[in-house]
Amino acid sequence: KTAEIGLIGLGTMGGNLALNIAENGFRIAVWNRTVEKTETFHAKAGDLAANLVPTKTLEEFVQAIAKPRAIILMVPAGEAVDAQIEALKPLLDADDLIIDAGNANYHETNRRDAAVTADSPRFMGIGVSGGEEGARFGPSIMAGGPKSAWEQVGHILEAISAKHEGTPCAAHLGEAGAGHLVKTVHNGIEYADMQMIAEVYGVMRDGLGLDASEISKVFGAWNEGILQSYLIEISHKVAGTADPDTGKPMLDIILDTAGQKGTGRWTAIEALMLGTPASAIEAAVAARNMSARLGERKAGQAAFGAAPGKVLGDAVSAKDLEAALVAGKIICYAQGFGLILEAARQYGWSMPLPEIARIWRQGCIIRSAMLNDMSEALGEDPERNLMLAPFFAEKLKETHGALRKVVALGALNGLAVPALSAALSYFDIMRTERSTANMLQGQRDFFGAHGFERTDKDGKGYHGPWAMNTV
Ligand code: 6PG
Repeated sequence: KTAEIGLIGLGTMGGNLALNIAENGFRIAVWNRTVEKTETFHAKAGDLAANLVPTKTLEEFVQAIAKPRAIILMVPAGEAVDAQIEALKPLLDADDLIIDAGNANYHETNRRDAAVTADSPRFMGIGVSGGEEGARFGPSIMAGGPKSAWEQVGHILEAISAKHEGTPCAAHLGEAGAGHLVKTVHNGIEYADMQMIAEVYGVMRDGLGLDASEISKVFGAWNEGILQSYLIEISHKVAGTADPDTGKPMLDIILDTAGQKGTGRWTAIEALMLGTPASAIEAAVAARNMSARLGERKAGQAAFGAAPGKVLGDAVSAKDLEAALVAGKIICYAQGFGLILEAARQYGWSMPLPEIARIWRQGCIIRSAMLNDMSEALGEDPERNLMLAPFFAEKLKETHGALRKVVALGALNGLAVPALSAALSYFDIMRTERSTANMLQGQRDFFGAHGFERTDKDGKGYHGPWAMNTV
């Protein structure tokens, strides 16, 4: 019996995805560059081995799949994907389909999509979120590519995806790189969400003097409320875990330099390129970059001193911190969805924003209860800034005072809260009709005759006389 689908790349994510597909009753051919990996994988698959077709050569792999073929690539993003596509092309027919399931940069997916010709296989890019567990038991899947591709494999992707109230967290979101763009923004939001949680952790640790177990309890309590989410849940668990060797809290022995593979950075770059504000995400990326400069931070502390411990006394409560996080979260999602909307506009993709919020509801790293309300709010009006949806506007009215308090007390006492602070500045700018950019326009006209518009007359290209003392 031939396989219904194939998968190349049996690393952690690829292997788990293949097992998930097999478990959902689809026969799947698998191939890996090193044959031993395929053999071990098959040998360890238990009952699921019956649905796996291990293959030794690429030719054998391709022949094992029913036509028109669908082949998932789960290889490292970048050159490996291009190399794999090139190796496959001569073996495939024009109506076959190559699906890149890695964390590709969506520009590369756009390029690969544009390279599809009448006699080359079709191409689709899917974002898969949820880490190892998700890949194995149900990820969130963000697909981009031709409709025909989704018609061919959508049922498989839906079957293996996470379910929210019975509905699959997998959807076709648009053409070409649309799926990978959404995955990238997902990761940007992931960075900001994680960073804001880390910032309130810092306020609790350094500002309030709470220990890891007390902090864990606070996160645990928040996970019962409006902030209920996977990231709060795991923060509760991370803070509550002791190192078996030393008995110390894990948090106290983990080095504070954060790694990154780059998707958060891409989101920030994309926001800048598309001209759409994503300042909380940008701040989160910058915070990781600063964290990596441990040597400089040591020297900085020696030169300027760090904030003294317990510097906030009890000026800030857990309730304030929870409310600040709520406000920060709404703002960072408003920025993320704003970015997707802008990309959709510029690329002419019709991206279903409420659907995106819905498929993030389960399976992915940023899954949270609040995404229900976001999906609803975006359903009412996908073009409106999420902050202005009545539900979230109400929440922001209730919580921006706490965000302000946390950011202000942080600033006054030397506790860095960069993402929360960026979120607050965004909020304050976006609720101010008369901003300060009139000064920028004056400066631009002064030094470069760039011209400006006037508040009292129509038209563009006005210039100032720029003579001193005429006010
Ligand atoms: C997911 C994650 C995942 C990502 C890791 C690591 O949705 O499952 O976003 O795709 O690769 O979280 O990202 P960084 O190494 O950049 O933190």
